[in-house]
Amino acid sequence: METTRSLVIGSGLAGLYFALQAADHGPVLIVTKASPADGSTSVAQGGVAANLGPDDSDESHVADTLRVGVGLCREDIVRLTVANGPRHVRRLIELGVDFARGADGSLDLGREGGHSERRVAHVADLTGQAIQQALLARVSAHPNVRMLANAIAVDLLMSRTPDDERACMGAYILDRATGHIDRVVADHVVLAAGGAGQVYRYTSNPGVSTGDSIAMAYRAGAEIANMEFLQFHPTLLAHPYAKSFLISEALRGEGGELRTANGTAFMKDVHPRGSLAPRDVVARAIDMHLTRSGEESVFLDMTHLDPVEVVERFPGIHRRCLELGIDMREQWIPVVPGAHYVCGGINVDSRGRSSVRNLLAIGENACTGLHGACRLASNSLLEALVFADRAAGILDELTPVKPTTVDPWEPGNAVDSDEAVVIRQNWEEIRGLMWNYVGIVRSDRRLERARRRIELIRAEIREYYWDCLVTPELLELRNIALVAHLIIESARRRTESRGLHYNLDHPGRLPSPRDTIISIDDGPSPG
Ligand code: SIN
Repeated sequence: METTRSLVIGSGLAGLYFALQAADHGPVLIVTKASPADGSTSVAQGGVAANLGPDDSDESHVADTLRVGVGLCREDIVRLTVANGPRHVRRLIELGVDFARGADGSLDLGREGGHSERRVAHVADLTGQAIQQALLARVSAHPNVRMLANAIAVDLLMSRTPDDERACMGAYILDRATGHIDRVVADHVVLAAGGAGQVYRYTSNPGVSTGDSIAMAYRAGAEIANMEFLQFHPTLLAHPYAKSFLISEALRGEGGELRTANGTAFMKDVHPRGSLAPRDVVARAIDMHLTRSGEESVFLDMTHLDPVEVVERFPGIHRRCLELGIDMREQWIPVVPGAHYVCGGINVDSRGRSSVRNLLAIGENACTGLHGACRLASNSLLEALVFADRAAGILDELTPVKPTTVDPWEPGNAVDSDEAVVIRQNWEEIRGLMWNYVGIVRSDRRLERARRRIELIRAEIREYYWDCLVTPELLELRNIALVAHLIIESARRRTESRGLHYNLDHPGRLPSPRDTIISIDDGPSPG
C-alpha cells in the first residue's frame, strides 16, 4: 500500500500543470495508464485560446464562448476562465513552451471556428506536443513528484464521513507489468484522464481515451453532467491508413474551404461564417451531405495558401498528408467528421471539486460549465490550465478522510480469461452502435435501440468482469460501456436540439436550457 498527499490520474496538460503546483506543498503521485505522453494533449494541434491580440478583448472572447455554447455555459465560469487565459499562456512560456511569433516578436495568433478574433497561441500545428514536452521535463525534475506509468486505475477507494457524505481516499491501481492491483491512499484524488472518443468508431482521440475517469467517478457516486454534448470534429483525415489523424480547424482559420467532390463550397449556403462556422454546424452539414450523396468524404481545399506558408504553419499535417500521397499544397485533403471532445463530464465547481468529497476533476473529464452545449475551439487547453491552477489553490482547504484500514483488492473466484474475443466483440459493437445511433444526428428510435443494446452488452460485461481476472482491456471495456450508457441516457433526457445534441424528433430548443445531471442515486446499476 502506498500513500501520498495528491493522487493525480492522468498525465496530460491538466494533470501535469496541477502536479507542478501541488508538488510545492506535498508529495504528488501521477498514475498514467500508458506512457506519460500517450494522451490527447500530445496530439492537440490547435493551441490555447486567450485574449492576447491588440484588437481582442475579454468581452469578445466571452461573447464567442457563450454564443457557441448556446445558452448552457455558466457565465461566471466563462468570465473567470477568459480573464485568466493570458496569465497562463505567459506561464507556459516561462516553463519553456516556445509559442510561434510574428516578425515583430509578438505572438502569432491563429483563428479557429466560432472565434471573431485571432486569439489562438500555437506552436505551428504541434502545440500539444510542445506543451507536453515542456511540462514533462519540469515535472520529472521536481523532487516531490513521482510518475507511475503503465498503471491503470481500477476504481476509487471510498468511505463515508460521520455525516454520511461520500468521500474519496485513493484508488486501486493495476500495474500492467505484474497484473497486481495495489492500493494508493491519498488525501485527495484529482481525475485528469481526458476524454472518451474511443466510445465511437471514428475519433480523433488516441487509444487511451476510454472515459475511465468519468466511469470511475460515476461508480463512486459523483454527479456526471451533460454527456450528450459529445463534440464531433468536422475534419479528420479520411484515409484507410490515417488512423485518428486530425486536420486542424486552424487550416480553415487560414482560409481553407470545404468542398464536395464536385468542387462546391457547400458551407457558404449553410452559415454566414462558411467553412469557419462553429463545429456543430460544420459537422452536421458534412454528415448530411455524406448521408444524402453516399460519398465517402468531403474535401478541404488549402491550395489558395502560399506553398511555403503551408509547410511553415502546418508542418505536422503537411508531413502526414505527404506520407499518404496527398500534397496539400496542390491537392484537396479528404476529410470526414469524428468524435473529438466530451463537453460534459464529472460535474465540478469553480475549483474543480466534484460532488464527492476530496475527489476533484480537471481537464476534459470535468464539466465546469465553460463549454455549455458546444465547445469553442481551443478553449479546452485554456480550461485545463485555469482549472488545474484553481484546483491546486484549494488543497489546504480539503480535509482528508484518514482510513483506519483499507481492504486489499478482492479478486474473489475470478480466473484467467481465455476469451479475449468477447472483449473485442463487445468493444466493436459499442463503437458501432454509438456511431450509428448516437452520432451527429440522433432520433428517439435510434436512442431507444442504442439503450436496449448497451444494456445487454453491459450485462454481459458485468458477468465477465466478476468471473475473470481483471485486465486493462477488460477495465477499459467496462468503462467505455458505462460511458456509452451515460451518453445515451443523457441524450434521451434532452428533448430538444441544442448545440452538439441534434435530435430529428425534437428539432427545436426549449425556452429554458437545463443541464442533464446523472448519478448512481438515480437508479441504474453502477457496474
Ligand atoms: C483543432 O486543431 O482543430 C482542434 C482544436 C480544438 O479541438 O480545440
